[in-house]
Amino acid sequence: MRPNLLFSSLPISSLLFAASSLPAIVLSSPQSVTPKGEWSFVQNGTTGITALEVIVVSPTLILMFDRVFGDPLQIDGHQAWAELWNLETNTGIALNAITDTFCASGALLSNGTMVSLGGQLVELPPNSTTPPDGDGRMGVRLFEPCSDPSGLNCALFEDPATLHLAANRWYPSSLRIFDGSLMIIGGTHEGTPFYNVDPENTFEFFPPKDNGVPRFSPFLERSLPTNLFPRGFALPDGKVFIVANNQSVLYDIETQIETPLPPIPNGVRVTNPMDGTATLLPLSPPLYIPEVLVCGGSNSSDSIPSLNLTTQDPASDQCTRMTLTKEGIEKGWVVERMPEGRMMPEMILIPDGKVMIINGAKTGYAALGSVGELVAANGQSNADHPVFTPVLYDPEAAVGRRFDREGLPTTDIARLYHSGITLTPNGNIFLAGSNPNSGVVENDTFHTEFRVQYLNPPFMSRSRPIIHNVPEKVAFHDKVTVGIDIPNDLNEKDIKVALMDLGFSSHAFHSSSRLVFMDAELSGDKKSLTITTPPNNRVYPPGPAYIFVTVDDVTSKGTRVMIGNGLSPPVEEQGVLPS
Ligand SMILES: *[C@@H]1O[C@H](CO)[C@@H](O)[C@H](O)[C@H]1NC(C)=O
Ligand SMILES: *[C@@H]1O[C@H](CO)[C@@H](O)[C@H](O)[C@H]1NC(C)=O
Ligand SMILES: *[C@@H]1O[C@H](CO)[C@@H](O)[C@H](O)[C@H]1NC(C)=O
Ligand SMILES: *[C@@H]1O[C@H](CO)[C@@H](O)[C@H](O)[C@H]1NC(C)=O
Ligand SMILES: *[C@@H]1O[C@H](CO)[C@@H](O)[C@H](O)[C@H]1NC(C)=O
Ligand SMILES: *[C@@H]1O[C@H](CO)[C@@H](O)[C@H](O)[C@H]1NC(C)=O
Ligand SMILES: *[C@@H]1O[C@H](CO)[C@@H](O)[C@H](O)[C@H]1NC(C)=O
Repeated sequence: MRPNLLFSSLPISSLLFAASSLPAIVLSSPQSVTPKGEWSFVQNGTTGITALEVIVVSPTLILMFDRVFGDPLQIDGHQAWAELWNLETNTGIALNAITDTFCASGALLSNGTMVSLGGQLVELPPNSTTPPDGDGRMGVRLFEPCSDPSGLNCALFEDPATLHLAANRWYPSSLRIFDGSLMIIGGTHEGTPFYNVDPENTFEFFPPKDNGVPRFSPFLERSLPTNLFPRGFALPDGKVFIVANNQSVLYDIETQIETPLPPIPNGVRVTNPMDGTATLLPLSPPLYIPEVLVCGGSNSSDSIPSLNLTTQDPASDQCTRMTLTKEGIEKGWVVERMPEGRMMPEMILIPDGKVMIINGAKTGYAALGSVGELVAANGQSNADHPVFTPVLYDPEAAVGRRFDREGLPTTDIARLYHSGITLTPNGNIFLAGSNPNSGVVENDTFHTEFRVQYLNPPFMSRSRPIIHNVPEKVAFHDKVTVGIDIPNDLNEKDIKVALMDLGFSSHAFHSSSRLVFMDAELSGDKKSLTITTPPNNRVYPPGPAYIFVTVDDVTSKGTRVMIGNGLSPPVEEQGVLPS
């Protein structure tokens, strides 16, 4: 601590400011303190399809998917249902998909290739000029790593005859696992107005394991009929946590054993069509103890026929958190409350370790056109009363102080069913989509939404730290030294380094999303940072990642790296496994 007399000539306000966070150098010139900036929503550009699935595929590109039902974007003389969004120009270009990607899932593999999985049986509008597309339910679509910043020479690859899933899956989810493959979870076989009445209660993998034979899951059976888009995460020991409906489970991929975990308390259901959302909280060295947070959804009974539910039924404000250790599981779910209920929220991990809870509605349900007494002006939306202000959750804060919306802005664009959202490599949040309608609708309150927005954190308007000379590929259990430039007004004693998978957004869920903090040491001259990478391929499933450095609450842009050997899955164990 500095003696108080050092501050004696300064006004009280700068004294408090300086004492709380700034390095000594600022004390001599308080007028150089820059404003801290503010959160803001900025609208920029419009998509040509409904961005109902969203994934960052390169430092400048976001890939989005919709369905074959009237989007204005054209390709080869017909409607497009895949689009590449350029973060530098805020414009999109059409990509050609063969099969229908409606309500599909996806993720990146260990070699950097994006895979889109599942979809729907084609549902063409009566007078469509679109050529008949393929049945998307077994769809596998590849987007190889794209080095062209504009994406002009990059394409989707599909060969439905030879490259497809083993089972029909509409509304599945998927995640990258420790060997760099994808695990694909559940889904339904065909058009279902609301509940999962024709389930595919299995897991499969891409590339396939078990000679392509799907594995039956008692958990998926137990979680019917409200278990579409199960929320699953790869844990740091390689097992998978899944929550669906009001049930949760640990799945050991290697022994194929399911271990039931405590159900979500208070009758709350958290998966489609009663969409809450879930995230794996940031993992920190040295122990990487996994904790999951599950928020929103509904406590309505799932034995009520959908026509007896209404758009005005309150969504749940409940969040539940559990530590996935023996002791944590014994303790069970700990209940917290959001400022309001949310149906279809998403949770975005941000590089300082907080969680942005955003989007969704205060009442009603996911899906469309299925509950009783739809509100005429709202078209087919099963949900009503959009939540227009996000809220931040700080996992490190004391219970009761974790939710904070001070300074968070309010938008007037509803992001309801069929919205997509992601953290970008720039460090801000991209929001697009919303279409609780079958087909494109113009004039309802919840019309098809093409406007793109960014939610900019306060640091976007400040001088930010810059990291450079970052290797393209980094190994596990290694030390990597990178260059760093830290603006003078930041306290360089407060440095956090996050290794992030930005995830795949579909149906109020960010699959594969992950933040692993890395220990880092700043050199004496403050020009380089030595980072310790995660110990092995289970703590961070091998594949693409972004490194963000946050100094004193100001986050750098993310730098893309390949973690692990970068080979095609399944890859071998890498780094050191705990003994
Ligand atoms: C929108 O994005 C374009 C391209 O990056 C940029 O030139 C323009 O300034 C942005 N407009 C606003 C309002 O941010
Ligand atoms: C397609 O049908 C809709 C009504 O079903 C009509 O409004 C629209 O004009 C038609 N479009 C074409 C190209 O015929
Ligand atoms: C979970 O939901 C099922 C119906 O889907 C219900 O039978 C069961 O009681 C619920 N469990 C809890 C703990 O609320
Ligand atoms: C659903 O609503 C109908 C018509 O109002 C009613 O007859 C029926 O009992 C309700 N069913 C349930 C399970 O609430
Ligand atoms: C169900 O959720 C609503 C909205 O959060 C709440 O008002 C109600 O008390 C809950 N009911 C039960 C039985 O927990
Ligand atoms: C929607 O409203 C606009 C402006 O009032 C009108 O020009 C357009 O025809 C309407 N579209 C439909 C599909 O009704
Ligand atoms: C990545 O692996 C997948 C699955 O084997 C393969 O289809 C794809 O072409 C590979 N991509 C690269 C860049 O090697």
